Amino acid sequence: MTRPIPKKTIADLPFLPPPVMAEPNAMLIDGDLRLNLNEAPIPPSQKTISAMTNALVEVGKYPDHSCDALQTVLSDRLGVSKEQLFFGGGSAELLLATSLIAIDPGDEVIVPVPTFPTFGKGVAISGGRAIGVPVNEFGINDVKAMVTAITPNTRVVYACTPNNPTGGMLNSDDIVYLSQSVPDDILLLVDEAYHEFGAYDGGADCLDILSERTGLWAITRTFSKAYSMAGMRAGYGIASSAQLAMGYHKVRGNFTINRVAIAGAVAAYKDTDHRDLYLTENAHQRNRLSQGIEKLGFTPFTSSANFVTAQSPQPTEGIVAHLGENHILVQALTWPGVGPCLRIGVGNNDNITTLLTVLKNYLSGTE
Ligand SMILES: Cc1ncc(COP(=O)(O)O)c(C=O)c1O
Repeated sequence: MTRPIPKKTIADLPFLPPPVMAEPNAMLIDGDLRLNLNEAPIPPSQKTISAMTNALVEVGKYPDHSCDALQTVLSDRLGVSKEQLFFGGGSAELLLATSLIAIDPGDEVIVPVPTFPTFGKGVAISGGRAIGVPVNEFGINDVKAMVTAITPNTRVVYACTPNNPTGGMLNSDDIVYLSQSVPDDILLLVDEAYHEFGAYDGGADCLDILSERTGLWAITRTFSKAYSMAGMRAGYGIASSAQLAMGYHKVRGNFTINRVAIAGAVAAYKDTDHRDLYLTENAHQRNRLSQGIEKLGFTPFTSSANFVTAQSPQPTEGIVAHLGENHILVQALTWPGVGPCLRIGVGNNDNITTLLTVLKNYLSGTE
């Protein structure tokens, strides 16, 4: 019997190109205030821009596939061996790669609900099954329930901290619990795309805790958020062993992190002053945003990231449409047990002022 191509698992998948895949209501128009994709509202640092500009003249040559320069700065600061590090064109690529190296048809993974959807997409491509576990009332991964959901078919437990879209962050007890309770032969994958924001808020050192784990683990991080490099596509991961990292190296396409991105990532990683300025400003504007929308009747979750998600006092369709008419893009979402929510990116001072003004005008008119 002939088997169709694309194969059934792929043919059955909905086609949701990014950003629609990640952000169902994204309607990107140049000039709009994009508070819907958790982007940094500031450009990369001048040092990072210079490094990328200098790298441009070399783009006739393939990049260093091993990302040695980036591997060196990361390994030095993180205290992990170079062999534990792996790279991709954004951390989303690494989430997809995880399924390639770990999931066979019929395998199960545990994922929080709601969370960033790319790992689940990879699981579906591999013919696996995602078992969703609702986040707790604070929007934080419910680690006890996640461990309880493990079955003999479980291959990966995916945790996301701070979690997108809720912004809630695991504390050190939670991470220790996961580390000690997830069986050694199950991969504990922690998505730390918002790691720097969590660390700024005094969050637990996940890498430190997982380093004590006897079983499999991997952490994924990105240069897209705290380093303002979303458009360049640079992500990295840290694996429990060189052997696990080698799995990621094997499935990766050739040269997938480009020459300009590598140069920018190295410079951005070294420029901690610029990163810290952004993190400080983000925390300040995030407070303004949370307090501002709370005064308008929203109930915000505590966020340790560069966005705030809040339960809305009324259905979100009208709000999103009105903001859209005013060229402000935000993300509407909901999940079981929670009413309609908006996720709003922490823009700069002017962005937040504009958003709050437009929102206030709209809500006062619909009271
Ligand atoms: C939790 C989380 N993980 C991963 C990503 C992917 O980021 P990137 O592929 O740009 O590294 C995102 C992007 O929004 C995210 O929110």
